[in-house]
Amino acid sequence: MSYMDQALTLARQSLGEVHPNPPVGAVIVKNGKVISEGITQLPGGPHAEIMALAELDYQASGSVMYSSLEPCCHYGRTPPCTDAIIKAGVAEVHIAVLDKNPKVFSRGKEQLEKAGIKVIVSEFSPVVEQLYEAYFKFITTGLPFVTFKFASSLDGKIAATDGSSSWITGQDARDKVHLLRSESDAVMVGIGTVIADNPKLTARDADGRLLDKQPIKIIVDSHCRISPDANVLTDDGMTLITCLEEQNVNKDRLKARGIKVIETPSFNGTVDLPSMLSQLGSMGITSVLFEGGGTLASSLIQHSLIDKIIGFIAPCFIGGKNAPTPFDGAGFSSLSASQQVRDISVQQIGSDIMIKGYLH
Ligand SMILES: NC(=O)c1ccc[n+]([C@@H]2O[C@H](COP(=O)([O-])OP(=O)(O)OC[C@H]3O[C@@H](n4cnc5c(N)ncnc54)[C@H](OP(=O)(O)O)[C@@H]3O)[C@@H](O)[C@H]2O)c1
Repeated sequence: MSYMDQALTLARQSLGEVHPNPPVGAVIVKNGKVISEGITQLPGGPHAEIMALAELDYQASGSVMYSSLEPCCHYGRTPPCTDAIIKAGVAEVHIAVLDKNPKVFSRGKEQLEKAGIKVIVSEFSPVVEQLYEAYFKFITTGLPFVTFKFASSLDGKIAATDGSSSWITGQDARDKVHLLRSESDAVMVGIGTVIADNPKLTARDADGRLLDKQPIKIIVDSHCRISPDANVLTDDGMTLITCLEEQNVNKDRLKARGIKVIETPSFNGTVDLPSMLSQLGSMGITSVLFEGGGTLASSLIQHSLIDKIIGFIAPCFIGGKNAPTPFDGAGFSSLSASQQVRDISVQQIGSDIMIKGYLH
């Protein structure tokens, strides 16, 4: 594994945990040997570069640093990483990608170069781009990156006509979904899914044990119809209910239980999704894994609010004219108006097919 790959592996470990900061990994090398490593800590804590330098008592003369992201050069919650790198005597810095944060973009690199440090920025890599896709959208728009994950049969059904949907895909695909949950800042479903499936929305291993990183659970529920006994309210972890700005006893009961509620204006009597996402962005949520159902998916797509899809297609037919599909609602009236998905990649996961792609 190259030194940069090591830095990227470290960065990936902090995905879903350090928001609104980017996930970053840093490796310091001297005389062909890794002498220290760092991972970005929780907001307010040291960045990856500082963690790696601290391990060396900030003495890194003549060393080479590999960082998965351009080092910051401004005062945020912590002082600039560039100052510490320069002071420690690092001779060369390799950066996987420049930081699209307007306060940093190219400036971090320039500050290092001005101090006589050789800086090398890696060529474009889809792996790196994917690692930072959520953070880059968030830092340039203030909105979270929304990934729509669904599991469907070969004939495009996400549940049977009796409403049952557990489990369409196999264990390997389900393990992958739990990993995706743990790497996301939040998971989100519509109230229809909570009523039909009573999901936990936690990130678990194959034996049902909770993973170390748990996403915030978001339920889109205009009139707070959620049952007080719903698993998402009784299980561990933080749950957010997004609903309308209206008088509602159930909302008061949720608030009294300490459950966080986000209120939006009404859009045809339902939650205003652009307002909801902008409030989630203001809370520092950079990535949302949206898990259905089809009614909410249809509204999100109509508002162009889905950035990416990850579909797990199982080798089975469910059939049924009225069985739900990933995108329900009125749909697009003609093929020429249909939503295209670009940059598709396909991978077999156990007996299922995982298809990924982007909507914009
Ligand atoms: N296989 C899979 O991947 C998968 C995943 C999830 C669900 N499912 C299946 O999908 C079915 C549930 O899906 P569903 O379509 O009935 O429900 P849904 O999409 O989960 O929830 C729809 C509800 O969300 C609320 N909502 C609030 N604001 C909205 C907005 N702006 N736009 C649209 N909806 C909004 C509405 O209820 P209010 O007006 O009361 O707020 C609406 O009825 C179940 O059968 C479940 O098993 C399958």
